[in-house]
Amino acid sequence: MSAAMSSLTFLMFTCFGFSCVLCGKYVPVKVKIETHEGGVPPKIFTGEELSKYDASNPEEPIYLAIKGVVFDVTSGRQFYSKGSDYNVLVGKDASRAHALWSLEEKDLTHDLSGLSDKQLQGLDDVYTQTYLPKYTVVGYMDYLIKQQEDDIQKRFTNEEL
Ligand code: HEM
Repeated sequence: MSAAMSSLTFLMFTCFGFSCVLCGKYVPVKVKIETHEGGVPPKIFTGEELSKYDASNPEEPIYLAIKGVVFDVTSGRQFYSKGSDYNVLVGKDASRAHALWSLEEKDLTHDLSGLSDKQLQGLDDVYTQTYLPKYTVVGYMDYLIKQQEDDIQKRFTNEEL
């Protein structure tokens, strides 16, 4: 972790995932995008940018995204470096693979469509119980920013109606 990053109050505040009392459906953990201390915007990654941190270059840190949140997992080299079991998960957002507990190529995507409540809950468990407590957040994926902007837009449009 760089000195600059260590000086940030980069706390992730998330709602907890819960099952809706009325409909019984699982409501996933909502990621809250945090700015750095002093209001400095967080780093936003495209898929291409994130792919540079896939442990190919030993000089670079190793990054992995889950639920659109980019973590520095360099301290978990034993899991993620080249030749290690979970190397396929780095340099990308493989949320679907985490939800399905799969390392198959077809699941190495952030697309969560068609997943069951149980699988979405599994994804939240690994996000809240493994990645958040263990690794530093270094930024967010562009798709997450877009998704949250769309959500705000939808809410705004509904209020107008
Ligand atoms: C037979 C199958 C598997 C076995 C025996 C296994 C075993 C393990 C073990 C022993 C650890 C290390 C725990 C620790 O020392 O903290 C671990 C961590 C982990 N496993 Fe698996 N695993 C399996 C399959 C999978 C699959 C399919 C995924 C797909 C996403 C996965 C994702 C992870 C993750 C994300 C971690 C945490 C790594 C970290 O702390 O950074 N595992 N697994």
